Amino acid sequence: MATSRAAGQQPPPLSEDPRAIAQKRAAAQTAAELLRDHMRVGLGTGTTVAQLLPAIAERGLVGLRCAATSPQTERAARALGLEVRPLDELGELDIAIDGADQVDPEGWLIKGGGGAHTREKIVASAARCFVVICSEGKAVPQLSPPVPLELLRFGVQHTLAAIGQARLRPAAAESPDGGLIADYHGPIGPPRELAARLSQTPGVVGHGLFPPELVSLIVLAGEGGIERRRGKKPFDQEAGGAGLSSSS
Ligand code: 5RP
Repeated sequence: MATSRAAGQQPPPLSEDPRAIAQKRAAAQTAAELLRDHMRVGLGTGTTVAQLLPAIAERGLVGLRCAATSPQTERAARALGLEVRPLDELGELDIAIDGADQVDPEGWLIKGGGGAHTREKIVASAARCFVVICSEGKAVPQLSPPVPLELLRFGVQHTLAAIGQARLRPAAAESPDGGLIADYHGPIGPPRELAARLSQTPGVVGHGLFPPELVSLIVLAGEGGIERRRGKKPFDQEAGGAGLSSSS
């Protein structure tokens, strides 16, 4: 019998380029500077967020309360002394910070390499300000497959057939909420059309296409320093707005 593997628990690739790791750290540190005392903060999942958590802890802010998008992030945040509360207890978040697999020039994202995209989208939506942190290799001229999916277990073969060109990840990967993690490997075309089609397919719990309207800021770290790209989601001063307006 295949063993199930919870989302967000994949270790970073052993062969990851040290420059990419340094860039993730630089993007994470830039985002951590946006936080202020007493903020309610959404924490994403993945290797870039793994760089973010110590950067937040090192700031020593007072009264920070965090909501985590995966058990892995929750454990790591708590181990660093950050307070983690259930999202519903925190209400609206001041800011959420997360990584991404791909970022296109319009501000569309593909997320969910770690299979936590459904929670990540809920947390991004619950925040007044959503900041994406990436190494420059995540910036692409055009999104390309795969697009991660979370599917309801019931009738999953019917759901996969209805989507077309989609398959379950190996080892019965599942989300923290028991959904099955799959990937769509077909053509993407206009992302808004594919996002609508996936959202309308019965059995699809969530997909990894994030629209620019969900994103306030993308922090891309590269060899030449930090590039900041504005998304379409508004933000205010209390939600890190002062930091967002500063130049690279
Ligand atoms: C997890 C995600 C991650 O943010 C995305 O996969 C990027 O991961 P990493 O920071 O490890 O490169 O969406 O579901």
